Amino acid sequence: MILSIDLGTTGITAIVFRQDGSLAGRAYAEFAQYYPEPGWVEQDPVEIWQTCERVVRNALANAQQPASALVSIGITNQRETMLLWHRDTGAPVHRAIVWQCRRSVRQCESLRERGLEPLVREKTGLVVDAYFSATKLAWLMEERPEIKSAADSGKLCFGTIDTWIIWKLTGGHAHVTDHTNACRTMLYNIESRDWDPELLEIFGCHPSLLPKVLPSAARFGVTAKSCFFGAEVPITGVAGDQQAALFGQQCTEPGMVKNTYGTGCFVLMYAGEQRPQAEGGLLVTLACDVRGRPAYAVEGAVFTAGAAVQWLRDEMGMIGQAAETEVIAEAIPDTRGVYLVPAFVGLGAPHWDMDARGTLVGLTRGAGRSEVVRATLESIAYQTRDLVKIMRQEGVPIKSMRADGGASANNFLMQFQADILNLEVERPALIESTALGAALLAGIGCDLWQPGHLPTALTEVERRFTPAMEDSRRATLLGGWQRAVRQARHR
Ligand code: G3P
Repeated sequence: MILSIDLGTTGITAIVFRQDGSLAGRAYAEFAQYYPEPGWVEQDPVEIWQTCERVVRNALANAQQPASALVSIGITNQRETMLLWHRDTGAPVHRAIVWQCRRSVRQCESLRERGLEPLVREKTGLVVDAYFSATKLAWLMEERPEIKSAADSGKLCFGTIDTWIIWKLTGGHAHVTDHTNACRTMLYNIESRDWDPELLEIFGCHPSLLPKVLPSAARFGVTAKSCFFGAEVPITGVAGDQQAALFGQQCTEPGMVKNTYGTGCFVLMYAGEQRPQAEGGLLVTLACDVRGRPAYAVEGAVFTAGAAVQWLRDEMGMIGQAAETEVIAEAIPDTRGVYLVPAFVGLGAPHWDMDARGTLVGLTRGAGRSEVVRATLESIAYQTRDLVKIMRQEGVPIKSMRADGGASANNFLMQFQADILNLEVERPALIESTALGAALLAGIGCDLWQPGHLPTALTEVERRFTPAMEDSRRATLLGGWQRAVRQARHR
């Protein structure tokens, strides 16, 4: 058995897989998000750890397996979210600063003013935005002198969420991460594949803070007997969730594209061993290298996708459960001209507008709950289309898109996505490609499976959504969307 732990932005999933790749047990739980100021997003690291423990226990119970039945563990995680903790006690120094948090807008502006944007882009493949970990760290170093002095004297550890949970699982023995997570911090050079001294200097990061970086399928550590497992299980697979999903969808040939519909929405195209060009606001990122050679991907990031559906549920009270949205949207022929631009934490690619904010437009007297619900689902598809449009402009012939993640279960959204992209959308048998990817990496890392000979039942296509919308209707809808985006934008 292999245990995969998917440490997502709003919830944690644990899945126990059998050696033939089939699913033996699963569990999921959400944890709290904190919004101390407009645009700020925080999480409690201890709560993440406690939720992780609960979910893993439940998954093992559902699989009717003891921890000793596990040959290995795979970990995948929300990327960029960062925290610092005390090396001696393991106590977090502050709440984790989440990838969606906009507090470091000023640090980004300062980078631009100092003319450092091209250098950062060249070294990291990223664009200057508060999304990535480094400006969050710089914010802590500038705003909290007591943290800076502890960091500079070697007392603290820096980590993304994978690093934090591995630290906890191994009883503080392993301070590690993998290339796919490291490359999202903005401190890591994607060509030399190492922490970059010049970037560390720019962001005020003391080198002693940093974890050791390993390939995604490697030996990261062993669970401590003292941790809740009560067994020593090796951790042999680690990847950022989007790269894990790319691997879980088996997009391992250049030009293959997946889109994961989670809290945000992330379109990744596998690019192979050569660093690709990425224009128009797309990112270059490291993919999982299971053959000991570098692997790159082109990425487009949408900050708010499934989170917009949670907003309908939690803040607007318009639905009780996410699954209701499919029936509501299908019951009406269109949104009557209503558009939601869910720029709650700004807009990612291709706009990269940190100050854009959520906008609802086109309301008429007849527009109600159904129209807003449908407009929310459609906004996810429109945002994806804006990314795929740039990838197509790069001259990549995209034949189809593989969809996964929670919202890919929504048939209305998948059909609308195919229609608005004018592209076939494929959904696999298991939509939790992120967890599957981490399990596959863990299986490779412990020699249970070999790359190229992986169990494939769960990656097989369960349903294909074929475009069926007339060109004129698509053009009209897209025109309305572009007007709505202009209204949401700040710059
Ligand atoms: O870059 C952020 C991303 O890793 C978060 O993924 O699945 O929680 O939306 P998700």
